[in-house]
Amino acid sequence: MSTDSQPSTVLSLARLATLTAHLLPSGNQQPSDHLLPHPLLAQSPVANLNGTLTIVDERTGKKYQVQISPDATVKATDLKKITTGKNDKGLKLYDPGYLNTAPVRSTISYIDGDEGILRYRGYPIEELAEKSTFMEVSYLIMYGSLPTESQLAEWNFAISQHSAVPQGVLDIIQSMPHDAHPMGVLVNAISALSVFHPDANPALQGLDIYNSKEVRDKQIARIIGKITTIAATVYLRMAGRPPVLPSNQLSYTENFLYMLDSLGNRSYKPNPQLTRALDIIFILHAEHEMNCSTSAVRHLASSGVDVYTAIAGAVGALYGPLHGGANEAVLKMLSEIRTVENIPEFIEGVKTRKRKLSGFGHRVYKNYDPRAKVLKKLTEEVFSIVGRDPLIEVAVALEKVALSDEYFIKRKLYPNVDFYSGLIYRAMGFPPEYFTVLFAIPRMAGYLSHWRESLDDPDTKIMRPQQVYIGEWLRNYMPIKQRTESSDADKLGQVTISNASKRRLAGSRM
Ligand SMILES: CC(C)(COP(=O)(O)OP(=O)(O)OC[C@H]1O[C@@H](n2cnc3c(N)ncnc32)[C@H](O)[C@@H]1OP(=O)(O)O)[C@@H](O)C(=O)NCCC(=O)NCCS
Repeated sequence: MSTDSQPSTVLSLARLATLTAHLLPSGNQQPSDHLLPHPLLAQSPVANLNGTLTIVDERTGKKYQVQISPDATVKATDLKKITTGKNDKGLKLYDPGYLNTAPVRSTISYIDGDEGILRYRGYPIEELAEKSTFMEVSYLIMYGSLPTESQLAEWNFAISQHSAVPQGVLDIIQSMPHDAHPMGVLVNAISALSVFHPDANPALQGLDIYNSKEVRDKQIARIIGKITTIAATVYLRMAGRPPVLPSNQLSYTENFLYMLDSLGNRSYKPNPQLTRALDIIFILHAEHEMNCSTSAVRHLASSGVDVYTAIAGAVGALYGPLHGGANEAVLKMLSEIRTVENIPEFIEGVKTRKRKLSGFGHRVYKNYDPRAKVLKKLTEEVFSIVGRDPLIEVAVALEKVALSDEYFIKRKLYPNVDFYSGLIYRAMGFPPEYFTVLFAIPRMAGYLSHWRESLDDPDTKIMRPQQVYIGEWLRNYMPIKQRTESSDADKLGQVTISNASKRRLAGSRM
């Protein structure tokens, strides 16, 4: 393949200009300390990378031209025309795990994994974590700009007005088995909201119901308002305590801590420094473009299903130990390593692939995750209030060893957001099983913003990837008596039976 309309130097310059534009703030703002001015600022903020791609199919000798868009993408469907003949349905992209497939164009967040950059709507994450609040940031993510004073007041009001949860959902939470994982309970509670809000269900009210801004905004306020109440109820249930009503006198994060800790005292106020620390953690976790769970929201929503079911599905994806569940896995790993002396043996286990270093590595970041940097600093602030967690020494030493080891350097494995968040949560008294719930609360902002964006995108289609069929081509049905068992064919293995079942089976039926 070759690109024939753009010499490589032009492309490199264009790429450089794009990167430079991304490193510089837009508008009239003064660059922050960490945003260095660059001579290429004078150039167009976003380079046009359009052109054509010429493909020569060596199988047939045929030449094809494919359009490259200004944002350097080619349409996967354009490759369908590359075919060898009648029985060949055309070229497809084989991309397990979607390593290089962009099913959407989005304006919500920007990540440069090589440079360790994350921005929400153009604002660097470090600046938002330092200066903003989760309420401001969730508005920014949702509606595209930081709110004015009155917009923020309206946003806070709408969310607090929707923070009460239907009794039926609280009952569902209480009816879960005593040892249920809090993320499993959360998935069920969010899914139940779908049943309690039939007014917002396209299956009942028609597919066009979400065309109404009013209907959309109401579901947004409902979900962001209710998620802290649901999460607090899930927490209190673990401690054997009844749900607490939300307070609309407190800020979003304050109200969450209030529900956890007030123990019936309506005048209780959480510690302001711990509230701020949790608010920063919420900012850092609010959005992260097309990760596994956010793409699940878009995937589910593309079928037209109600927003509660789409979000419950996404929270299900977040539950996995390779995604949001990693913070819990990090804590388990650090507890298992226990002391700095045990680190070399653990690292050997990782290098011989017996273990995984949880909280390290990322599909997109091939550099230090910018959120992990903020969290590392935040650990000390939280420790200064609630006491130092001894596992921090293990975490810091583990990070140091890993970052200087050839195995991790070669694979560009750096700490991700989950490496330090678990230590903060533990220091703040949260049990490990609850960590991912703390991740899910702020991520509602990201999920809902993608849901909104997908509703307005004229390119949105029901998501339906292709497969490459590699199974048996065509077989004729054979009557059961004529079939023979082949030794290499897959079959049902041993399904274990409990002793209670054996007892039951040993009995006879009347
Ligand atoms: C996040 C993650 C799933 C990304 O996976 P991915 O992009 O598919 O990367 P790969 O699994 O292809 O990894 C590339 C290489 O690094 C290795 N690797 C990746 N993460 C690793 C880790 N945490 N510990 C040890 N080795 C790791 C892989 O074994 C692979 O090595 P190889 O090429 O020799 O086979 C992966 O890094 C991981 O499992 N990390 C731990 C879980 C975690 O912290 N998740 C939270 C993410 S925010």
